[in-house]
Amino acid sequence: MTPEWRTPRLPAPGLRPLNIPESTIVQTYNIAILPGDGTGPEVTVEALKVLDAAAAKFGFALDQTEYDFGGERYKRTGEILPDSGLEDLKKHEAILLGAIGHPDVKPGILEKGILLKLRFAFDQYINLRPVRLYPGVETPLKDKGPDDIDYVVVRENTGGIYTGTGGISMKDTPNEVAVQSMVYNRHQVERCLRWAFEYTRKHGKKARGKGDANTLGLVGKTNVLTYVFDLWERTFNEIGERDYPDVTREYYHVDATCMWMVKSPEWFDVLVTSNMFGDIITDLGAITQGGMGIAAGGNIAPEGVSMFEPIGGSAPKYTGQNIINPLAAVCAGAMMLESLGQQEAANAIENAVRHVTGTKLKSLSAGRMGYSTSEVGDMVAALVADA
Ligand code: IPM
Ligand code: MN
Repeated sequence: MTPEWRTPRLPAPGLRPLNIPESTIVQTYNIAILPGDGTGPEVTVEALKVLDAAAAKFGFALDQTEYDFGGERYKRTGEILPDSGLEDLKKHEAILLGAIGHPDVKPGILEKGILLKLRFAFDQYINLRPVRLYPGVETPLKDKGPDDIDYVVVRENTGGIYTGTGGISMKDTPNEVAVQSMVYNRHQVERCLRWAFEYTRKHGKKARGKGDANTLGLVGKTNVLTYVFDLWERTFNEIGERDYPDVTREYYHVDATCMWMVKSPEWFDVLVTSNMFGDIITDLGAITQGGMGIAAGGNIAPEGVSMFEPIGGSAPKYTGQNIINPLAAVCAGAMMLESLGQQEAANAIENAVRHVTGTKLKSLSAGRMGYSTSEVGDMVAALVADA
């Protein structure tokens, strides 16, 4: 199956010459690995352990090149992410990222200099963040289970307030003025919405046998941000009516969305929203699915190189103790395989993760799992190998 978020540059996977055993490698993907800071390297090792098990089982190979961009390199060399690094990374099929953020580096420098720079430079204009409660995982939402918390947020990932349009004038005077504008053009809005409609058509609740409609909900603030979200809403309705009549459309204000994400998450199927709103609501979503130990996301460049990451950050205080939960990184790896067209392998990883959360882990929190970081990786890898 060709995934919708990248244009394949290689022959379709799964086409093996006759008489060659299943385990024979017929395809190699060039993957860039950015372990990054804090616990990033530890969780990345576990993700790669699982990915290698999946590759061996499903007959493909991952040619991995590691890059040391992050806080340590910045402290050592003053370099964040040079253009030559971007050029190098661009040569890969996908990027797997551990975590960015270092306690000795002023907030914003690495985040903007690496994570946001990559999103912008590679035009990763979609941030796909599933909000899915796995079996056995504790949620702070009363009386809600895996059937209720099962939706996806499509966050616009390269526009809006994040582009930094604005500035400060009359700095350090009583008249100081700071402006940071939410800027969107039709093109940015339309391509994001089209991607979200296509995604909903293929992966919505009806498509997954979980309901009688595939529903895309636009999350905005049309009652106050009457310019930007008017553009979003008009575009949403125009292209929805014309090109996606089979997808049910809903509109929600962002503040009300936060309320319903807590009270009635089962209402949601696929949500699409702006960069800033998506950033905020996906942290709320992550905590309802058991927290940062499990939440993964994909920075998707439909026409280029995508990057997959656990969304939890570098958790510096747990670094090097072998107690951090690697499952978010493992799930990011599964999303990467799906984007490369290895759907079966991605499913096997997700099933293994479900099994481990459902039958093994005591908690998803660092130090309270009942297992070490590497033991969790071992368990998932073994289940994938036996899939
Ligand atoms: C995220 C993060 C980033 C963002 C930061 C680290 C720049 O919070 O991926 O959600 O705001 O997008
Ligand atoms: Mn965030």
